[in-house]
Amino acid sequence: MSEAPETSQELSEVLEDLRRHLLWQEEDGGRFLQVDARLAAELRGAGLARLRAQTAKPAPSVAAQPAPAAQPPPAERPMPPRAPPPEPERPLAARAPEPPPARREAPAPRLIEAPAQVVRSAAGPLPGVVEGERPTLDEIRRELGDCRRCKLCDGRKNIVFGSGNPRAELVFVGEGPGADEDVQGVPFVGAAGQLLTKMIEAMGYRRDDVYICNVVKCRPPNNRNPEPDEVTACEPFLRAQLQAVRPKAIVALGKFAAQTLLRDTTPITKMRGTWREYEGIKLMPTFHPAYLLRQPAEKKKAWEDLQQVMKFFGKQPGQRG
Ligand code: URA
Repeated sequence: MSEAPETSQELSEVLEDLRRHLLWQEEDGGRFLQVDARLAAELRGAGLARLRAQTAKPAPSVAAQPAPAAQPPPAERPMPPRAPPPEPERPLAARAPEPPPARREAPAPRLIEAPAQVVRSAAGPLPGVVEGERPTLDEIRRELGDCRRCKLCDGRKNIVFGSGNPRAELVFVGEGPGADEDVQGVPFVGAAGQLLTKMIEAMGYRRDDVYICNVVKCRPPNNRNPEPDEVTACEPFLRAQLQAVRPKAIVALGKFAAQTLLRDTTPITKMRGTWREYEGIKLMPTFHPAYLLRQPAEKKKAWEDLQQVMKFFGKQPGQRG
């Protein structure tokens, strides 16, 4: 139970906190509102070489392991198909046209075929990458290219790489693009994305302040779960993105993000709400916004998780920037 606020300052903080919570709960009419206001090693030029090595010969990931036996409660297992996508609200993002999706049988490793430990590419760094420096998101995006590393390339309209502040202190990692994201080439723009945007704003950030990306960069058909080989193929790019942005904290949205980054098959219901560490970066696992749309009563827990992140950044209710 919360203690009663003692000062007007505390009271105004409680009210601001409540207002923020309401902002992203509003579609439920506050039905589930429960007020508890108290409630990498750098990726160098050599690291990019490592990325190439990993994507040429992906290392096994947790997601590639067989799913553990029954794990009640099955809050996010299996993930039901996402809700039908709403009409896109934004004009299509300007995108470079993608080449036709001719599928190669085996992706040709473009630069090196070295084990992951090798830190220098025989071919040298990518053009524009100074050896010894971290590659940028642009360089990683170029390395991804018109990716044919897994079967998701067959059905995608656009690769959804990531969006936001390349120097963000906070990164949100989701699962994979849905229909709206596939069309727009931008992560989290559909219904779940609108909720995520409210969550971000409730924390006192603008969407552009943070960086948002997914475990897999192409839409799984019919919004099915990403399959282990797909996660394995894409994971090095996610890891590279996190090393390029080098945030102070990561919010892992849902089981795919949390389990992939942490290499831990613990259900998200058990993992959420407790700080973990990813490559020296604080990581908070929480529920995926799509799950919260289906289970709005769980928003309270997600808000508690996000409040821990706010606390880490010293963000008080009402404080922006
Ligand atoms: N769900 C995700 O995990 N990512 C998106 O980009 C959209 C919906």
